[in-house]
Amino acid sequence: MTDLSNIENEIAQDINNINNLQALEEVRVLWLGKKGKLTEQMKSLGSMSPEERKNFGAKLNQLKEKLTEQLNAKREAFEREEMNKRLATETIDVTLPTRPHDMGRIHPISQAMEEMLTIFAQMGFNLAEGPDVEDDWHNFEALNFPKNHPARQLHDTFFMTEDREKLLRTHTSGVQIRTMENQKPPIKIVVPGRTYRVDYDATHTPMFHQIEGLVVDKTANVAQMKTVLTEAFKAFFGMDDLQVRFRPHYFPFTEPSFEADVGGELARIVGKEWLELLGCGMVHPNVLKNCGIDPEEYQGFAFGVGLDRLTMLKYNIPDLRSLFDADMRWIEHYGFLPLDVPTITRGLSMNAGLKK
Ligand code: PHE
Repeated sequence: MTDLSNIENEIAQDINNINNLQALEEVRVLWLGKKGKLTEQMKSLGSMSPEERKNFGAKLNQLKEKLTEQLNAKREAFEREEMNKRLATETIDVTLPTRPHDMGRIHPISQAMEEMLTIFAQMGFNLAEGPDVEDDWHNFEALNFPKNHPARQLHDTFFMTEDREKLLRTHTSGVQIRTMENQKPPIKIVVPGRTYRVDYDATHTPMFHQIEGLVVDKTANVAQMKTVLTEAFKAFFGMDDLQVRFRPHYFPFTEPSFEADVGGELARIVGKEWLELLGCGMVHPNVLKNCGIDPEEYQGFAFGVGLDRLTMLKYNIPDLRSLFDADMRWIEHYGFLPLDVPTITRGLSMNAGLKK
């Protein structure tokens, strides 16, 4: 029978020498592993007399328990120490400035559209929208463009079907019809939207943007129309003395019809005396009739503003086509940060687009 006090001393020494988790594991295997020294002692119990076995076995078990406890205590101590070390080194300085991260940009057209809609909303206009793929009725027929009428040729249309019944809308005026078909006067709407014509040169892109306006009630008139438009442009450009003029024009769906130009400082930016921005007029009686509105009782005015040129003017963008080039450097320069509040009083800002 082995002398247990020797073993006890040996264990005490081994435990004493442990100085890291790996050494701890080695000591555990050395004594308690499958072939460990204590395990071997346990195996020898079988060959002892019952009396010896009882005595020796109990002592062995005590030793084993004590050893296990000591190993566990050491392990916990090591782990705690390691955690403290990590806590000391892996600190985060919450006062550090954040890393720069890019937020993307709002396209100048989206910005200008938002500004225009805000202005009209303040004047009490409601928002209306319609589909980009329009039908002949809403884009032409109901707007008093008779079939085979030469006025249709003014719009170089992208047709979607062989029979020319479906097309990409050439203007947002179709939404006038859609609204009047579904709503009783008084009507007061603005319509933002994409529009399409077969056209591509320095001042035309096949896709462009318009804002349509329509007011129908019993007293709508040219004077109101001029005031609404003049005030809207003054607010948009932030120029109280903005000059706006209305010239006679022709549209099949308005009578009388006008084109409106801005002049002065703004027009001179592009080297002109006057710069055309929109078409407008009093809604033609035939159009009201086509929508089931009695022209004897109701009258209205309508306008269609080209948004892309407005955007270029306000934000000093020299080239129309660059608006649609999807060039990252361009959008970073001319774009707006998403959290920028749209300013409709900023006016002709010399550093527009440079804001970061
Ligand atoms: N739809 C016309 C255009 O695209 C503009 C317009 C709208 C004119 C409403 C009069 C009234 O040229």
